[in-house]
Amino acid sequence: AAAPGPSSIATLDWQPLREAVAACTACPLCASRRNTVFGVGNTRAHWMIVGEAPGEQEDRLGEPFVGPAGQLLDSMLQALGLTRAEAPPAQQVFIANTLKCRPPRNRNPEPAELARCEPYLQRQIALVQPRVILAMGRFAVQALLRSSEPIGRLRGRVHQYEGVPLVVTYHPAYLLRQPADKARSWDDLCLAAQVLE
Ligand code: URA
Repeated sequence: AAAPGPSSIATLDWQPLREAVAACTACPLCASRRNTVFGVGNTRAHWMIVGEAPGEQEDRLGEPFVGPAGQLLDSMLQALGLTRAEAPPAQQVFIANTLKCRPPRNRNPEPAELARCEPYLQRQIALVQPRVILAMGRFAVQALLRSSEPIGRLRGRVHQYEGVPLVVTYHPAYLLRQPADKARSWDDLCLAAQVLE
């Protein structure tokens, strides 16, 4: 079957959406990926966490945030009582990336790749209907807020994506290089948790 175009992606339910991502050839990243990385978590999670793109381990395993950045993310989530595993919706997160395929050598996503991949993320958010979105790093922010302001200028307050409160924070891979910003990122997660109170 022909791959669905952006407008038909917006009507797909979970299983056809998964299949569309797995079969996607909309951009050249399909040639170099080992696996697509759809996302993980409960489809009724209250939290939606959006990262950038799969890295080496994510590409190999087909799951988001399973490498070093993912370990940091999981420990921050755990400190808030949140998990990607089975739990009541209020404790659950759905984790997805802006790009579903790994860019070669983890280079930055290109605008055309982001544009082709965005409808999948938009549909995931529409299906999950999260109560809060955490956008980590500049590519998630660009995709969801259409802003290229630095993270440091956007974090610390609540934005909106299609009526859903959205909090901006640093990408965990950046925090591994700049641990001094971990405290700020923790504050951002606490801000997102406050939205749900
Ligand atoms: N970085 C991301 O943005 N996403 C992943 O899944 C892994 C690392």
